[in-house]
Amino acid sequence: MNLTLLIWRQKDARDKGKMVKYQVSGISEHMSFLEMLDVLNEDLVNKNEEPVAFDHDCREGICGMCSLQINGEAHGPDRRITTCQLHMRTFKDGDTIYIEPFRSKAFPVIKDLIVDRTSFERIQQAGGFISVNTSGNTQDANGILIGKEEADMAMDSATCIGCGACVATCKNSSAMLFVSAKVSQYALLPQGRIEAKDRVKNMIHQMDLEGFGNCTNTGACEVECPKGISLENIARLNREFLKASVK
Ligand code: SF4
Ligand code: FES
Repeated sequence: MNLTLLIWRQKDARDKGKMVKYQVSGISEHMSFLEMLDVLNEDLVNKNEEPVAFDHDCREGICGMCSLQINGEAHGPDRRITTCQLHMRTFKDGDTIYIEPFRSKAFPVIKDLIVDRTSFERIQQAGGFISVNTSGNTQDANGILIGKEEADMAMDSATCIGCGACVATCKNSSAMLFVSAKVSQYALLPQGRIEAKDRVKNMIHQMDLEGFGNCTNTGACEVECPKGISLENIARLNREFLKASVK
């Protein structure tokens, strides 16, 4: 395939940035989207030009590092996959593809297609954990019986990889789907109940401090989430917050 790429180039956080046009050729339909970008970068390096900076790590849909807005959609046109799992067979010879970073005030661009998502880390630090006494009296996790349904629901929430596609997709740049998944995975398990009130209040407080917008129940986040995190998590987050706020 021969493709025209329009890619966001931005030297650093202070640079204004702009879309730059590139041509790539010899792209196989079996390549992943990131491999296609690798081909472009090899070409750029061979021409002594600056390669395009983009985030990636596992390239298996696990780590949450890849993060591109492709033709206006977070992680591209396919559903329930990350950018690293997107294959070039989704596109046609001669296509023009627009590639931009995830956009949100709380995800400032660092360089080209790489954004700073440490706001998510700070929300996690505010409450995305349980406190366990590790002084030698630690209880075996198997000693706490958990119903299959609760365990499955908690596992579904825990599949959030913190990629930020929900934020990039939301017209309000809301982080509610992410925060709701992180709160839910603990709220559904007995181990998480002990600190539940502080957790939900602290995580929501940090979310607001980071400058994410409010949720207006549009549901776009659920559609674009590569892990299928459902809006039910947001409903649970709201219930948890209400319970924590009632004295
Ligand atoms: S909720 Fe989905 S889209 Fe949002 S950070 Fe988690 S995995 Fe990514
Ligand atoms: S590179 Fe790890 S999820 Fe895409």
